Formats: sequence, structure tokens, C-alpha cells
Amino acid sequence: MPDFQHLPVMKKECIDALKIKSGGVYFDGTLGGGGHSYEILRLSAPNGQVIATDLDDYAISRAKERLKEFGDRLTVVKDNFKNFPEIKRELGIDGFDGILLDLGVSSFQLDDKSRGFSYLSNDEKLDMRMDGTSSFSAETVVNEYSEQELKRVISEYGEERFAANIAKNIVSARKNNRIITVGQLNAIIDKSIPAKFKQDGHPSKRTFQAIRIEVNGELDNLYETVIGMTRGLKKGGRIAILTFHSLEDRIVKRAFRELETDCICDKSLPVCVCGKKREAIVVTKHPITATEEELEQNKRAKSAKLRVAERV
Ligand SMILES: C[S@@+](CC[C@H](N)C(=O)[O-])C[C@H]1O[C@@H](n2cnc3c(N)ncnc32)[C@H](O)[C@@H]1O
Repeated sequence: MPDFQHLPVMKKECIDALKIKSGGVYFDGTLGGGGHSYEILRLSAPNGQVIATDLDDYAISRAKERLKEFGDRLTVVKDNFKNFPEIKRELGIDGFDGILLDLGVSSFQLDDKSRGFSYLSNDEKLDMRMDGTSSFSAETVVNEYSEQELKRVISEYGEERFAANIAKNIVSARKNNRIITVGQLNAIIDKSIPAKFKQDGHPSKRTFQAIRIEVNGELDNLYETVIGMTRGLKKGGRIAILTFHSLEDRIVKRAFRELETDCICDKSLPVCVCGKKREAIVVTKHPITATEEELEQNKRAKSAKLRVAERV
């Protein structure tokens, strides 16, 4: 396997936001290359703990190797971070001092052409699974979804204006043979977008992003997950979430707002009857974005938005 690298996005901003303290207990839901976890472990020395999850076996083995100097201060669980409540319960953790989610895919998932995440390849299989043991891949979506479902996925998750055309052409192309390679899908997308709309980046960019989000269920239950994770913090503990897609960012913003909202009773009522209590305060009234300096070094940081909340 070639040695792919992943530059952690907004590392300083994330770590500062979490206010890491010696001996703290942290959850990194998206271990990836371990860049953020490394900093958390370093700053929480000598006995801080990091519980980290990832779905990707390659990421897990790479990160474990990179972080081995921290010994049993790191616990890696191969699981979906959306199973946070079960993981917390099984590990017997009362509350976390900080939680980090750095959503989406890593550079080494994108750069390893054999994973099928990148439209910049040709003969590679349509795959896009973060979890290589799952049987649901990009090939399943492209060949087995109805035209309506394809249009919804491509339009909603890819914000692609030619989604209807692409969906129609996928359904027509697969009548003869299954669409199995990146190159086949690229060719269908290319013919579905009028030439004058192709100047704005690679024509496949938005459709590939949409299919990836669908394959990995990236937006499924994200709202509930953010609420549950915030409730799993100790008082004063912080949750920091980095998003790379406007839909993800909107979900995080909405969940934080819900957690911050206090009693919603009509002001004319003498006492509260709704029972709603503020559970967190939003630290970032506006999301933090990457500095010019970081953008020069890492183009992945371009669409990144960091939102932070603190448990009360
Ligand atoms: C952007 S990378 C994280 C990079 C990491 N922060 C670093 O510094 O190297 C996202 C990682 O999260 C993983 N991932 C994405 N969604 C996940 C989920 N729902 N559960 C567990 N892992 C997930 C991906 O497999 C990928 O390795």
C-alpha cells in the first residue's frame, strides 16, 4: 500500500477549542490519520485518554502505528461514531471532557485511487466505502437505485443542477450492462452536462460527492448524534465539529441551537410548563474557517467550517 498522507484541517483551531487538559478523557469520532488525536494525547499528558473510532481498517492500522508511543492512553474502536452512546456505556465512561468530529473522507481515502472515491481515475471500481466490509457500495447505488432515487441523491447531496439528466442517463446506460468503473460513470456524467456548464471544476465532482455521502450514510442521524454526544460531555466539556458540506454544517448548527435553547413557554405563563432546559452554549456564533495560510497549504480546508459548543 503506498504511503498516503492526511494533513489535519484546522488542527490548532480544533485543539484550542477543546481546551485540552492534563488527565482529560476525549472522544475522537473520526480518527483518520490520527493527526488530531496525536495533539489531544500530547496535550493531555501524562494520563489523558482518547477513545477514537473509525470505520476504515487502513486508517485504524495507520493511526495505531503512528500513535503507539501513547500506549494504552489510546483506545481505538472500529465502529461508526454514531454508536457513541453504546461505546461510552461499554467502556464505562461517565462523561467526556471533549469530543471532536472531523467529518467526511480523509486525503488518503481520496488519494488511493483503488478505493473509487476519486473521479480522477478510470478503470478503478466504483466503490467509495469507508468500511470495506460493508456490502453497500457506489456500484450498488449506481446500478440499483431507481431514477427518482438517483436524482434525489445527486440533487440533494451534490447540489447538482443537472441531477435529473445524470439520473436518466445512468438508468439508460445500465440497461445493457452494469456500470462498474469510475471511467464509465465519468463518461455518463460528462454527456449529461452541457459544455458551457463544465468550466466550474470537474463535471463529476458533485455527483461523486453525492454518491459517497449516500454510500456511507454520512448525514443519517447526524442531528441526533450531535445531541447525544453533547449530552455525553461533562459539565464544561466541549464538542468541536468540522464540516465540509453545507448540509452537514446546517445540521450541526440546528442541533447546537436546540441544545442552547432554554424554556420555550409562552412568556405570559407565570411558570415553565415545557421543562426545556439549556444543555449547552454555542461558543462559535459564526463558524470558524481556515486561515489564508492554511488554505495555501491544504486545499481540503477550503470548505471547512468549525462549530463548537460547551456543555452546561
Ligand atoms: C477527515 S478524516 C479525519 C482525519 C483526522 N482528524 C486526522 O487528523 O487525521 C475522516 C475520517 O473519519 C472516518 N469516518 C467518517 N465517518 C465516520 C463515521 N460515521 N464513523 C466512524 N468513522 C468515520 C473516515 O473513515 C475517515 O478516516
